[in-house]
Amino acid sequence: MDTSKEHVVGSPATLAVRFRQAMATLCTPVTVVTGMDGDRPHGTTVSAFGSLPMDPTMVTVALDRGSALLAMVRRTRRFGVNVLGSDQSDLALRFARKGTDKFVGVEWHAAEGLPRLTGTQTWLSCDAAELVDGGDHVIALGLVTEIDTVPTSPLTYCARSFGTHLDHEHD
Ligand SMILES: Cc1cc2nc3c(=O)[nH]c(=O)nc-3n(C[C@H](O)[C@H](O)[C@H](O)COP(=O)(O)O)c2cc1C
Repeated sequence: MDTSKEHVVGSPATLAVRFRQAMATLCTPVTVVTGMDGDRPHGTTVSAFGSLPMDPTMVTVALDRGSALLAMVRRTRRFGVNVLGSDQSDLALRFARKGTDKFVGVEWHAAEGLPRLTGTQTWLSCDAAELVDGGDHVIALGLVTEIDTVPTSPLTYCARSFGTHLDHEHD
């Protein structure tokens, strides 16, 4: 019996590739997670954002171990989550870069000492309750201290492109 194909399909490397391909087909929200280093704002585009059960009100964000924002969160134990609206893909691209100048020309203000971008769909400020090992990422568990939301369309990321949600009534 030729088991070579079975072996290749089941090998760890192939599983990782298939996992990445499968996950890329799922729609995620797009956020800019922010922190404040003294009076310098910093932010990073993050699609690995989710909510946990309501009591207590908690969210998760997964940050790459090499992320400058993660280093800031480790120090300050606080972060903000700016959930982007469907017309804000330019901000998603801007904050996906490396560097200390990402806020140049961007409209924002400090909310509870954290950088809040103007015109986002939802704003959350969080205390970092725990930083959990997640392989090449660290999962920050955030205890929500404030939330503000406006009923607009969210920005989504799916199959490596930006879009938004349309409910079935629009079919
Ligand atoms: C659509 C999109 C989603 C992303 N999601 C994440 C994510 O969930 N976690 C993460 O650590 N990086 C994510 N990134 C990559 C970071 O934004 C990028 O590595 C950034 O340069 C990190 O900046 P920093 O080192 O200043 O934190 C995403 C990028 C894009 C374009």
